Amino acid sequence: MNEKIWITGAKGMLGQELSALASQHSYHTILSDIEVDITNESSVESFIEKHQPSVLVNCAAYTAVDLAETEKDLNYKINATGPQVLGKVLAPKNIPILHISTDYVLNGKSPNPLRPSDAYSPVNEYGKAKMQGELFLKESGASVWILRTAWLYGIHGKNFVKTMLHLMQNKEELRVIHDQFGNPTWTLNLAEAILQIIQSKSHFGTYHYTGDGITSWYDFAKAIQELGLQYGLLSKSIPIHPVSSSEFVTPAKRPLWSALSKTEVQETFGVQVPHWKEALKKYIQLESTHAPD
Ligand SMILES: NC(=O)c1ccc[n+]([C@@H]2O[C@H](COP(=O)([O-])OP(=O)(O)OC[C@H]3O[C@@H](n4cnc5c(N)ncnc54)[C@H](OP(=O)(O)O)[C@@H]3O)[C@@H](O)[C@H]2O)c1
Repeated sequence: MNEKIWITGAKGMLGQELSALASQHSYHTILSDIEVDITNESSVESFIEKHQPSVLVNCAAYTAVDLAETEKDLNYKINATGPQVLGKVLAPKNIPILHISTDYVLNGKSPNPLRPSDAYSPVNEYGKAKMQGELFLKESGASVWILRTAWLYGIHGKNFVKTMLHLMQNKEELRVIHDQFGNPTWTLNLAEAILQIIQSKSHFGTYHYTGDGITSWYDFAKAIQELGLQYGLLSKSIPIHPVSSSEFVTPAKRPLWSALSKTEVQETFGVQVPHWKEALKKYIQLESTHAPD
């Protein structure tokens, strides 16, 4: 492949998945994480001078959603100033950017999946900073794909699926929120979509990519338990109780409805959007053959 892909946040959950997949597909990858601070213009400049990437996938972010309510400055710096710096440096060099964003820039109320063109309505500090990051990139003049995703899990890093499996094995019962709806997304499926999008070198704009189908955290947890038992990751079944968001208060508010529409990304790039339950089954199957991180 002739693309030279710079992946920032390459040690994160998505960054590791994408790096591995890109290498498998024989892309030339240049990886960086916190040692190349995306909020530092001169670090970004000198990294580009040295490595001459042909495209950037920005997976670097501040992702501690609850902590962001108190660590407001750090959250803003990484999620808003970071993309601003990347846009400013990469625009004049004509290096396209695929920037990963989040469902938390939106907050739906209807039964319909949210479209990329829907108005911003973040309900927490993390969502507000990610929104500002998107806006900075749009203003930068760079060629940008903003790809919003949600409810990520995968083989690397901490995530809901791994937390649930751990709790299910170590607790006698669990309470899981039943009134927040969204789309679970396997990082491997997202990484496949990212490679397909950057290869197009066209149709810049804002898109959504998640697993297909809509569920609640409660039903997601029940599916994790079912598959965990089936594939031997769990040795016992425990009761899982549905609770409402008002009973399970977290420092950051979450949108009750953040299901995302994939129509635009499918029609434009022809990417595959597997159903979340099918993807979860493949992931659990894979996890059952791996030692934990
Ligand atoms: N996880 C989800 O469920 C979810 C949902 C929707 C959207 N997203 C978006 O998906 C993307 C990837 O998320 P993820 O879960 O893979 O995140 P992650 O695991 O937290 O990885 C982010 C990486 O970026 C690094 N980083 C932080 N500040 C940096 C800086 N200033 N310069 C360079 N690197 C820096 C982090 O290092 P440290 O760990 O050392 O800070 C970490 O290795 C993010 O844009 C996130 O907003 C995630």
